[in-house]
Amino acid sequence: MEKNEDFTLIEYDKSLRPKRLKDYIGQNDIKEMLNIYIKTALKREETLDHVLLYGPPGLGKTTLANIIANEMGANWHSVTAPSLDRVGDLAAILSSLDAGDVLFIDEIHRLPKVIEEVLYSAMEDYSIDIIVGKDTTASTIKIDLPPFTLIGATTRCGDISAPLRDRFGIVQQLDYYNDEDLQQIVKRTSNVFNYAIDDESSLEIARRSRGTPRVANRLFRRVRDFAQFMDEKSAEIHLDVTKLSLQKLNIDTEGLNQTDYKYLKAIIERFNGGPVGLNALSASISEDPITLEDVYEPYLLQRGFIIRTPRGRMVTEKTYQHLGIDKK
Ligand SMILES: Nc1ncnc2c1ncn2[C@@H]1O[C@H](COP(=O)(O)OP(=O)(O)O)[C@@H](O)[C@H]1O
Ligand SMILES: [Mg+2]
Repeated sequence: MEKNEDFTLIEYDKSLRPKRLKDYIGQNDIKEMLNIYIKTALKREETLDHVLLYGPPGLGKTTLANIIANEMGANWHSVTAPSLDRVGDLAAILSSLDAGDVLFIDEIHRLPKVIEEVLYSAMEDYSIDIIVGKDTTASTIKIDLPPFTLIGATTRCGDISAPLRDRFGIVQQLDYYNDEDLQQIVKRTSNVFNYAIDDESSLEIARRSRGTPRVANRLFRRVRDFAQFMDEKSAEIHLDVTKLSLQKLNIDTEGLNQTDYKYLKAIIERFNGGPVGLNALSASISEDPITLEDVYEPYLLQRGFIIRTPRGRMVTEKTYQHLGIDKK
C-alpha cells in the first residue's frame, strides 16, 4: 500500500511528523508510560532502556521512535533490518555510537539470525564479539560499546524470537486510533499544509481512514487536490468536495477500498464465505499474501468483517450486510 511513495511525499511526511511527545496525538496510555520512563532516565542521567514498538503500518511507530530520541536529547541513527546482511554492517554501526545515542531498527522481525545474535550481547552487556581471520587463525575480539538505546519497530511482534523480545525493557503496542484523534491529526495536517478544512470534513476523513494516521494524511492530500482543482481561490475544504473525492477514490464509509472489496467478495463468492487459507485467497485475487496479512487483514479483523479460525479466514454477518449480499 505504501510502497510507491515518491520523494516529495517522503519530504511531506517529515514535515508532518510531530517532534515532541506533547504533539503526538492519541495513544495516551503509551505516551503516559513513555513520559515516565524518559523523565526518570533523564533525571538519573541514564540511557533509556531498549524500546520495542509494534502495531500495524502507518500508526506512528517511526514517528514515536523519533520523538523518544528528541525527548532524550539523543542522536538518531536509523536502519532497516533487511539492509543489514553482514555482521560487519551492524558492528560498524554499533561502534560508531556515542553514549546515549538512539539506534532505530525498523522491521526488526526481519533481522538475519546471525545479526540478531550479535545484537543480544550489544543490548545486554554493551559489547560485541567479532570473529576476525579464518579457520585456524580465527580469533574473537571483544568490542566495548557505549550505553545506547535500541528502538525496534515491527508490524509482526509474533515473528520476533523470544530471546530478542526479552531484551527490550519497554514494549509498547500501538492500537488503531479513534475518530476524534484522527480528526485532530487531519486538522494538524491541514495547518501544516496551510489549507483549511471544516470540522465536518475532517471528521469524515477521520472516519474513513482505517484508524490509521498515514491513511488520514493521504486522504487529506487527495481531498485537497480535488478542492483546489475545483476552487482555486478559497483554499478551503468543505463536506461536499470531501464526500465527492472519497467516492471517486472508492473509499467507502467504513474506509474500505477496492482491495478490501476484492478480498471480501472473493471469500464470499469463490469460497462460500470461508474458511479459506491466506495463500489460496491471495492467489485467487492476485494480491501479495504478506501485504494482505500485514496491511488489510488487521483492520478487517478489528472491525469485525472477518474472523480467523484454525482452518482459515471467514467473513461475518456484518460483511454480508455491508456489501449488500444475501447469504446463501
Ligand atoms: N500520533 C500521531 N500524531 C500525529 N501524526 C501522526 C501520529 N502517528 C503517525 N502520524 C503521522 O502518520 C504518518 C505515518 O507514521 P509513521 O510513524 O511513519 O508510522 P509507522 O512507522 O508505524 O508505519 C506520518 O506522517 C506521521 O507524521
Ligand atoms: Mg515506520
